[in-house]
Amino acid sequence: MQAQAYQKCIEPTCGLEYPITDIRIECDKGHMLDIKYKTIPPTSLKEVFYKRRDPMSNIFNESGVWRFRELLNFCQIDTENIDQCSKRLVSLDGAEGRQSKPYHMSKVSNYVGVQNLWLQPEGYNPSGSFKDNGMTTAITHAKLVNIKKIICASTGNTSASAAMYAANENMECDVYIPSGEVAPGKLGQAFQFGAQVIEVKGNFDDALSTSLKQASQGGGYTVNSVNPFRIEGQKTIIFRALEFLDWNPPDWIVYPGGALGNTSSCGKCLMELYEWGWIKKIPRLAVVNAEGANTLYILYNGKFEDSKLRWNKGKPDTSLVKRYYEYMDKNGIKPKTKATAIQIAKPANILKGLRALEFTNGVVAQVSDKEMLDGMALVGLNGFDCEMASGAVPAGIKKLVEQEIIKKDDTVIGILTGRQKDSGIPVDYHRNAENKFANPPRS
Ligand code: F0G
Repeated sequence: MQAQAYQKCIEPTCGLEYPITDIRIECDKGHMLDIKYKTIPPTSLKEVFYKRRDPMSNIFNESGVWRFRELLNFCQIDTENIDQCSKRLVSLDGAEGRQSKPYHMSKVSNYVGVQNLWLQPEGYNPSGSFKDNGMTTAITHAKLVNIKKIICASTGNTSASAAMYAANENMECDVYIPSGEVAPGKLGQAFQFGAQVIEVKGNFDDALSTSLKQASQGGGYTVNSVNPFRIEGQKTIIFRALEFLDWNPPDWIVYPGGALGNTSSCGKCLMELYEWGWIKKIPRLAVVNAEGANTLYILYNGKFEDSKLRWNKGKPDTSLVKRYYEYMDKNGIKPKTKATAIQIAKPANILKGLRALEFTNGVVAQVSDKEMLDGMALVGLNGFDCEMASGAVPAGIKKLVEQEIIKKDDTVIGILTGRQKDSGIPVDYHRNAENKFANPPRS
């Protein structure tokens, strides 16, 4: 059988290709990889996906990832054959993506000034963040190539998700975390699910380079978002949002920006759907950085050397990125935000992120810690749970509306990436009566 799926270098001038069973996170020339599919999925699948919402006891229909399995069929199986699905597809009993879909949160809508606002709580995943969408697929690939040990660096949620899936598949799992910079709930999950925690002095960027080095020396299969199979699973966040809107794309999709795995997956998803004729309109992407970890904001908006970093049809000015990283290192500039999930200064997926921004005519905003906390608190007042980094989404939308970039009558989808895993943050927020949405205790 001829391979229907393969891996391909993202740089148009390089374009090296590899089989699906190749274990690598970059091409021989050091560029990132995409998973590519040769066949165009027919739009009639929209009906099939909809029908699967009544799962009929099939966990691969129940799963909000595998319900869309034809659009990420890198295992190249007959997707209706339940035996093949069970042998190949990794799932936490259908739990990943099962409960996440867009919700209207009226108090957030009023606050940001957009009525057609839909927020999708990805914290309602089994390990409590959007990572499970991509971990499901990365571990499926790991299983396909007989991996016994996985490895990652993390600000907390990736490690929780990796550890959970590894435990479920009887794999070993090493997680490299920036010491003292991870929310207690996330760290607790890694321990609890049996991962080996390795504390690294420094920040996430240091932890990632250590873990990638370990992986290259046989230390395990990398499950960070530089792994292209992670990106495939995270596309389903957008599939669920689009399906909810009857596949009529919104005007905007908004994410917090950290390592830019989400940004990359959203871009790839929209590029494919557009190319396949599934959507006729391309939503604009808005990525929201924390002010204290704003590399993408700085580079994209030309705030360093007056030069706006762009994908530039596959010819980005990577030397500008290098010079900015050197500038940060030389001047001791370290990422610093209370939203530790996105406390990242060197986004590993920056090039795929730029590609996504170019395809979608996207924008990059930044918000303060205070604005993120207000956003988080307001989501809570609608009866939904999210962590501080996810609060960047309402905060960023509000800012972009004020700047008249997002229009009040636009339709906006915002992704709330994770649930609260540091109870100290909301407790401190609400104890301080000066905070905008504080709900202080009485004695
Ligand atoms: N929101 C949450 C809750 C996260 O945990 C992360 C990333 C992001 C947003 C940023 O997403 O990297 O795709 O731009 N957390 C990673 C981790 C880095 O290790 O858990 P991104």
